[in-house]
Amino acid sequence: MNPAGQVSPTEVPSETIAPPATRLAPPCTLVIFGAHGDLTKRLLTPALYNLTGGGLLDKDFTVIGVDRLDGSDESWRQELGQTMQEFTKDPNAEFYTPEINQGWWSDLSGRMHYTKADFTDVGQLEALKQQVQGNAIFYLAVASRFFATVVENLGKAGLTQQSEGVFRRVVVEKPFGADLESSRALNARLLAVLDESQIYRIDHFLGKETVQNILALRFGNGIFEPLWRSQFIDHVQITAAETVGVEGRGAFYEPTGALRDMIPNHLFQLLAMVAMEPPNSFSAETVRTAKEQLFEAIRPVAPENAVRGQYAAGTVQGRAVKAYRDSPGVAADSVTETYVALKLEIENWRWQGVPFYMRTGKSMTGRLTEVVVHFKQAPFAMFADTPVDRLAPNNLTLNIQPTQGLTMGISAKIPGPKMDLAGVEMRFRYEDAFKLTPNVGYETLLYDCLTGDATLFQRADNIEAAWRVVDPALRAWEADKAGPELYAAGSAGPSGADALLERDGRAWMKLDRAT
Ligand code: BG6
Repeated sequence: MNPAGQVSPTEVPSETIAPPATRLAPPCTLVIFGAHGDLTKRLLTPALYNLTGGGLLDKDFTVIGVDRLDGSDESWRQELGQTMQEFTKDPNAEFYTPEINQGWWSDLSGRMHYTKADFTDVGQLEALKQQVQGNAIFYLAVASRFFATVVENLGKAGLTQQSEGVFRRVVVEKPFGADLESSRALNARLLAVLDESQIYRIDHFLGKETVQNILALRFGNGIFEPLWRSQFIDHVQITAAETVGVEGRGAFYEPTGALRDMIPNHLFQLLAMVAMEPPNSFSAETVRTAKEQLFEAIRPVAPENAVRGQYAAGTVQGRAVKAYRDSPGVAADSVTETYVALKLEIENWRWQGVPFYMRTGKSMTGRLTEVVVHFKQAPFAMFADTPVDRLAPNNLTLNIQPTQGLTMGISAKIPGPKMDLAGVEMRFRYEDAFKLTPNVGYETLLYDCLTGDATLFQRADNIEAAWRVVDPALRAWEADKAGPELYAAGSAGPSGADALLERDGRAWMKLDRAT
């Protein structure tokens, strides 16, 4: 991450995506395994396009796309160029820009080359050696079952060998393992070939500006941190609700489910940003050690504190949605969860007694990713003889998406002769203060990997610690034949999730409220 972005909002140039002080990334060959895959088309290419436009790539930066299908540089460039054009048509896509800057695109596409190879075959990877000289990053945009094999083959082909002034790095996507045991086994296989410092386990949530802003908010201001503890905070809610369903991803989603897909990675990263102790610097090791200490303090989730649901047919924002079980690639009697809610307890001085509730789900009533910090109520006695019958709770919402900003809920006096109060909001919105440029979040992460900054990537112990927390829920669900509770597509999730909070005298924030 680049902590040096100290520019006033009006100074942010409209044409670039990076603060002016950002340095050029070193020359490097980026080898993408899975050249035809969705990740490459929909996220990596727009990110590289934005980095090109930001003038952040060295003149000797090149991309080699590797896949099993026949193809040429020209056909690959055309295929990616087509997807880029489609981005100009859909403002709701992962990336939207009203027009593609032809100068940026021809600069980038001229650096892109295609190689047909089967990455499970060492011999075919050895052939890559001629093309890959000097610094290289190997990006595993492939199904997770291939991660270890590709890394082992890269090792055998001598492609992971670093030398003085030359780096060789590997970017690994999620899911990183399917539980504690398999994540340990995967880490062990990668670490038999690579040094930990060569492995960049990516979590795209950490590429989101609003997620990185949580650190800026907590540690760059004097007013929040003193209140950021059990003395003043009642509980915290972390939500990542989606209106999309499983769409065409049934084959991936069936053995994965909402918990593995979202919790030990994305939601735990949000949790870490909100709950870790202040690190002394942004250095990768300091930040990742702070996360590790937090994760180690979380009690493994008790099965009664884990709720799962699966969407049945319904209507999402006016659109009829079929049941999850009727989606392509999904078993008619599937027990895969498309919704999960957890109550987590952190056993350290700062958070003892402050529950962290998290939930994520597909086909829900609203699209909303946010963290809401609920502060303790003010004493009521002073208002006993007034028309006030209850005080609005004070909460601080870190709006991550679609709204990007910060919202503070406070009580204010309703103008008039009587002392009566109403809940009102103080709002900061990114788009009001800064010029936002279209990006997919992978820009920062790719740039960080090129410059060797692993702050926003997960260390082996971080991943294992997160799996350790959620493992008891996975084990309990495996043994429980009842399966997940059904919820109607377009609803706020299963009733069991409401009960989880009601038990504690609390309620979830509404998903369809205006933000
Ligand atoms: C991905 C999950 O990692 O994150 C998807 O595999 C999910 O299932 C997505 O939809 C959510 O990311 P975002 O950035 O759209 O909130």
